[in-house]
Amino acid sequence: MKRLWDKGEPLDDLVLRYTAGEDHALDERLVAFDVEASAAHAAMLHAAGFLSDTDHAAIRDALREVGEAHARGEWRVSPEEEDCHTAIENRLVARIGEAGGRVHLGRSRNDQVLAAVRLWLKAAAAELADQAEEVAAALDGLAARQGALAMPGYTDAQRAMPSTVGLWAGAFAAEVRDDAQGMRLARRRADLNPLGSAAGYGVPLLPLDRAATTSALGFAAPHEPVTAVQLSRGKAEASALFEAALLAIDLGRLSADLCLFATAEFGFVRLPDRFTTGSSIMPQKRNPDVFELARGRTAEAVAALHEVLGVVSKLTSGYHRDLQGIKKPLFRGMDSVRDTAAVMAHALPGVEFVAERLAAAMDGSLLATERAYALVRDRGIPFREAYRVVKDSL
Ligand code: ARG
Repeated sequence: MKRLWDKGEPLDDLVLRYTAGEDHALDERLVAFDVEASAAHAAMLHAAGFLSDTDHAAIRDALREVGEAHARGEWRVSPEEEDCHTAIENRLVARIGEAGGRVHLGRSRNDQVLAAVRLWLKAAAAELADQAEEVAAALDGLAARQGALAMPGYTDAQRAMPSTVGLWAGAFAAEVRDDAQGMRLARRRADLNPLGSAAGYGVPLLPLDRAATTSALGFAAPHEPVTAVQLSRGKAEASALFEAALLAIDLGRLSADLCLFATAEFGFVRLPDRFTTGSSIMPQKRNPDVFELARGRTAEAVAALHEVLGVVSKLTSGYHRDLQGIKKPLFRGMDSVRDTAAVMAHALPGVEFVAERLAAAMDGSLLATERAYALVRDRGIPFREAYRVVKDSL
């Protein structure tokens, strides 16, 4: 297998391993999207008269076969091939010979990688938004089961005002739905078609039909001007990771509450045995590991966002190989939050609030503000005076 740009003298082995890095493995999840984008590009070349009927049919069929064979696990991107774009073209050429060498006309791996990542990102963002909605639905379920139970509301971690399990769960449900909404809106930046920008400056001589690949791939519009495309790399990724980080933070704070509520001191919630782990030394312990890890893994999403922003900041315009470094934090960050949302949606139906413990925590101090307001209402005195009357009575 060779690279698209091989020059003669073989590439130094250490340099190959360093520059390809983990890209070949990361690109595994881009294969299907690069196949889709390549098919759209080939169809456009054909319609514009740059591919014969026979060559186009051969490319189209071979792309489908190569994609299906990959989905069946029959081939993988090798480190020597650097990336999925090279791997797919190599397999096309191996299957259909010269016709396979015609597909790269009018494109570059620079616009190919953006097309594949954006298609992946649109799907991943939709999936994560759906997963967040499932967490919100599980919180709705909790509110429906036990929402009427009164519980203290806390400010500064001190008993503050009366609240309910429904208000507690409803707050998280509302924010998690807001995160899902943010995630759906984050696709805006991923919705522009980079194909046709090639290496970043368009292509000479060929009148490419960018509108054709735009509609074939379901993008909202071609990304214009062509010089903006490479400048934008990382922005759709950062935007999605930012929304993912907000979701991770909300799930982490929900988890922090549940860890506190599950302590013997609070005892507000019981977690089923199947969702807790034990200690190797202390036989009595039942650990809320799922929620501790969900809280801890917030760091992964936040770090991924930082890493992407760090890669792009301070680069001059145009493509730089640095940009390859965006894929790893993007995939890691999105995967991490998806896994956390999935386990939360799964575990929340097992959370049970303990009525007696909640009732015992509802002491009279929680009604202090209400008593002051009643004095204002019934006696017409200023709030500040009512506040003092209640404070002196405590
Ligand atoms: N793996 C590369 C990336 O993700 C593909 C583009 C390679 N282009 C180049 N000029 N070296 O950025």
